[in-house]
Amino acid sequence: MGRGSEGRTGTARRGALLRLVVTSAVTALAGLHPVAASAEEQPEARVLGGADSTTDDAPWVVALTDGYGHQFCGGTLVSPVKVVTAAHCAMDPTTGAQRPPKELRAIAGRTDLRTQRGVVAEVERIWVHPGFRDYTRGSDVAVLTLRQPVPQRPLAMVGQGEAAPYRPGSMARVYGWGRTSESGPPSDTLRSVEIPVTTDEACRSAYPNYDAQSMFCAGVPAGGTDACAGDSGGPLVAGGRLIGVVSYGTGCGRPNTPGVYTRLSSYAGELPVQS
Ligand code: ARG
Repeated sequence: MGRGSEGRTGTARRGALLRLVVTSAVTALAGLHPVAASAEEQPEARVLGGADSTTDDAPWVVALTDGYGHQFCGGTLVSPVKVVTAAHCAMDPTTGAQRPPKELRAIAGRTDLRTQRGVVAEVERIWVHPGFRDYTRGSDVAVLTLRQPVPQRPLAMVGQGEAAPYRPGSMARVYGWGRTSESGPPSDTLRSVEIPVTTDEACRSAYPNYDAQSMFCAGVPAGGTDACAGDSGGPLVAGGRLIGVVSYGTGCGRPNTPGVYTRLSSYAGELPVQS
């Protein structure tokens, strides 16, 4: 979910993003094991905030803003005029209706949303996956067509039916401007964190509705590294390609509660990404 009507201006701004527990290699190695690290899980043992990233390193990541100019989701350029995002980002959270394209903007090349750097692109139209009902039921993918091409380098997408990038334990990196902790302070700047793909079992045990065809999970059992509110629609990248879209999660970074991503290999062939 996005940040609703809460804005990026003023002190009330919340919603920043990825957090990172630096609990040592134990956490990373715990990746596939059901038994998590213990002592390191105390909040005071955590270093929240993930790692700073920049749109120089990740030129294809975009911030989506609503009619009030509030950032509410992320997205990924897969061509100069096409942005892959989550279907739920295309919906108005209060009315459930599709957001009017003219209210949306995709901001590229702006690491720090308080600045005026980069470019602001208008959205000409929105394609929402026809199977999308709500994010708990999959098909959480949409494609925005920009009114003008942007100069930032796009990212390649995983191929239809590819399985290798989703093997449990394989590493991926998620990017966004969402919250830095579940209910904590915001980040105005782009952040990212690396997380392993989980097993289907780990995902299903956290989310009974889990559907392995349309979704996958990423995170470590100990928690602490995750996407959070405001990161929806943004990229999960592996091997230099877009493999997932931030979809949903219970809280952020909780133990045994990985983040859920749209399994793009199930949709790549049907996305209208050729202009
Ligand atoms: N739906 C959320 C959003 O609007 C994304 C939540 C992802 N949460 C998570 N714990 N991975 O940004």
